Amino acid sequence: MIKEDIFSTFILEDNIKVNVSELNKYAYELKNKNIKTKRIPSTQGGFHSDDLHLEEPVLQPLIKAITKMSYVYCRELKVKEKYALSLANMWFVINNQNHYNSPHNHPFSFLSGAFYTKSGADSGDIVFLNPNPKIEGYWFDGAWKEYNMYQSGSIMKESLTNKIILFPSWLAHHVTPNKTKEDRIVWSFNIQLI
Ligand SMILES: [Fe+2]
Repeated sequence: MIKEDIFSTFILEDNIKVNVSELNKYAYELKNKNIKTKRIPSTQGGFHSDDLHLEEPVLQPLIKAITKMSYVYCRELKVKEKYALSLANMWFVINNQNHYNSPHNHPFSFLSGAFYTKSGADSGDIVFLNPNPKIEGYWFDGAWKEYNMYQSGSIMKESLTNKIILFPSWLAHHVTPNKTKEDRIVWSFNIQLI
């Protein structure tokens, strides 16, 4: 008998040492200038910035870390060497008490991610939804002794300061409400394969 995992995906998580205070200062400066997105954001109640200038010096250590991590992801995916990765856009979101992000994915990108510069245990977690939309119609929650990747409808990850998470852009996700009175700051981004 042979067991084989078919149709799977993965996320990458790490803790990176970049200057989060400097990034938070920059975020508040742009927020105070009200430089917010013209797109329809997933943010419910929070501040969603416009796309950032990627040449900005304060962003460079983060961009370097994102690039390095993205190549690790591509190695796991077995992407051909002739392709390169390019950071397409980046923005930040500040969610305060009861703010959250509704379910969405990041269309027309290859990889996407989130980096937290101000977030604690109750500031709102990121929840990834099982990409098989049929699972909940066929299998019911009470059947499982414990949850695993074959039958979970969703998987929640804590959003903590300094954590970065990389995921495929097609993977739908949402963010639970911030239960604290403190701001939660996340930097989101999209990466293209070129
Ligand atoms: Fe997102």
